Amino acid sequence: KKPIKIGLLGLGTVGTGVVRIVEGHREDLEKQTGSAIVVEKVLVQDLSKLRSVSVDRDKLTDQPWDIIRNPEIDVVVEVMGGVQETKAYILEALEQGKHIVTANKDLMAMHGPEILAKAAEKGCDVFYEASVAGGIPIIRTLVEGFSSDRITKIMGIVNGTTNYILTKMSQEGAAYADVLKEAQMLGYAEADPTSDVEGLDAARKMTILSTLGFHSEVALADVKVKGISKVSKEDIQYGKKLGYEVKLLGIAEKHDEHISVSVEPTMVKTSHPLASVNGVFNAVYVYGEAVGETMFYGPGAGEMPTATSVVADLVAVVRNLNLGVNGQHSTAPYLEKKLKTDEQ
Ligand code: NDP
Ligand code: HSE
Repeated sequence: KKPIKIGLLGLGTVGTGVVRIVEGHREDLEKQTGSAIVVEKVLVQDLSKLRSVSVDRDKLTDQPWDIIRNPEIDVVVEVMGGVQETKAYILEALEQGKHIVTANKDLMAMHGPEILAKAAEKGCDVFYEASVAGGIPIIRTLVEGFSSDRITKIMGIVNGTTNYILTKMSQEGAAYADVLKEAQMLGYAEADPTSDVEGLDAARKMTILSTLGFHSEVALADVKVKGISKVSKEDIQYGKKLGYEVKLLGIAEKHDEHISVSVEPTMVKTSHPLASVNGVFNAVYVYGEAVGETMFYGPGAGEMPTATSVVADLVAVVRNLNLGVNGQHSTAPYLEKKLKTDEQ
């Protein structure tokens, strides 16, 4: 079979991990998909930057259209972040018949319906597993694993940066600002970490999860959001004395015809499994009427865990290409009528 050529938008934390996995697991990926996967072009901002992964100089470009309108490229993997520019690139890539893998929750939470509609029109795949909870395959789990059930609650820790900060404040008495810097150095935080600490990143993820889980479009504006920037060491220590850990929890519930979604710092009893989810780890609890309680745990951010999800999506696209079924097994939500959400 002919090699499948990918264009990578971004070679930062996640893009570097993607190159490492595509190169390092080359033979396994080829065995699994039947095709060699080749990184054909990589979009960066700064061509002169030193890179921690080796990519041939002639593959690097700072011109997005070298990828988006390149007839050689089959799949665009978007790991550059941002919304307006990225949306334009992805819509144009779909127009050109390219399949998309993205880790971008900002984009999918705000413009997911438009992007998925374009993909359906063009018979293209759009996969976005890495957009929620890094290395935990929670999107496929909701869409495929629970397709037989009725989900009524999704709750969890879905931001690695804030969980890392809260854990260090709780266990080591560390100062908020110092740990935030550490999380940025480790590549966990967003380009603008305000989205992490003010709860917006978690809200975007809860928008995606609740739309998929409850089969009803939830908008970002439907989510009540409060971040951790005002949580003090004293609050955390006081909670501990009473037998609680402070966690930034996303909680989405469906009651009959109504959905409520929120993100806020919450006192969690130390005996509860979510209280012992520490550091950059995430956990998502899903309650289904038939299955009952389930919980999924794993690294929520960082280079290799996130790249694992991105490359798994890439494998899905390549398998679909070889079967000629792109656009037929997508993670587009199956939507029913729009239910009421809390008023803001
Ligand atoms: P980084 O900031 O580390 O990397 C961004 C990359 O994109 C860089 O290579 C940068 O180029 C390039 N880039 C950014 N803007 C442009 C532009 N306008 N034109 C050309 N190139 C551009 O980001 P991350 O890898 O951390 O995150 C990427 C995406 O993945 C985001 O959407 C993020 O939310 C998401 N994500 C991140 C996770 C993580 O743990 N970091 C986990 C899950 C999702 P240059 O290198 O030259 O600066
Ligand atoms: N900034 C995000 C986090 C990256 O800390 O969870 C993973 O989506």
